[in-house]
Amino acid sequence: KVLAVLASGSGSNLEAIAQAIHDGKLQAKIAVVIYNEPDAFARQRAEKFGIPAILVNHRDYKSRKALDLAIIDILKQYHVELVIMAGWMRIVTQILIDAFPERILNIHPSLLPSFKGIHSIEQAFNYGVKITGCTVHLLSLEVDSGKIIKQAAVPVLPEDSLADLQKRIQVQEHIIYPEAIAEYISTL
Ligand code: GRF
Repeated sequence: KVLAVLASGSGSNLEAIAQAIHDGKLQAKIAVVIYNEPDAFARQRAEKFGIPAILVNHRDYKSRKALDLAIIDILKQYHVELVIMAGWMRIVTQILIDAFPERILNIHPSLLPSFKGIHSIEQAFNYGVKITGCTVHLLSLEVDSGKIIKQAAVPVLPEDSLADLQKRIQVQEHIIYPEAIAEYISTL
């Protein structure tokens, strides 16, 4: 399958997916990386793997809809079959969802349906849960609410700082996201 990865920040999940493909653990190709923050480290990670990275700066578009239309143009141009959101920090519109029905995956750093939205690791940490985790799910219009594809549980240890917990969750993200993509592709 031909993938696109959408990222806003560090792109460590992008790297994990690109590495899984490189290692032959995931039969897919990342045709393009789309990023919206000019200094996103995801761009460098894409370059490292020889993947074209295209900046679509949301500040250049007058609405969420206009931004999504520009993204759809690129996805069509690269014949993308499955869209992978990996730290994409923009709320999407129905236009993007309709252009790729059940073909957009996202990863969220909590055990959904708990702790939706932003700062979810901090929310879980402050709540005092003893187990949290991460979830790969289908993208839906309502944030962090689409069908769950795969989850990993992560313990919160008594001596954990927020940063410790964040790291432990990211380790699991990097394991389950490539696996979830492979499993999902096998059902298509
Ligand atoms: C991840 O924690 C993911 O769950 C959330 O954004 C973060 C992206 O990290 N949606 P990275 O850019 O892949 O390093």
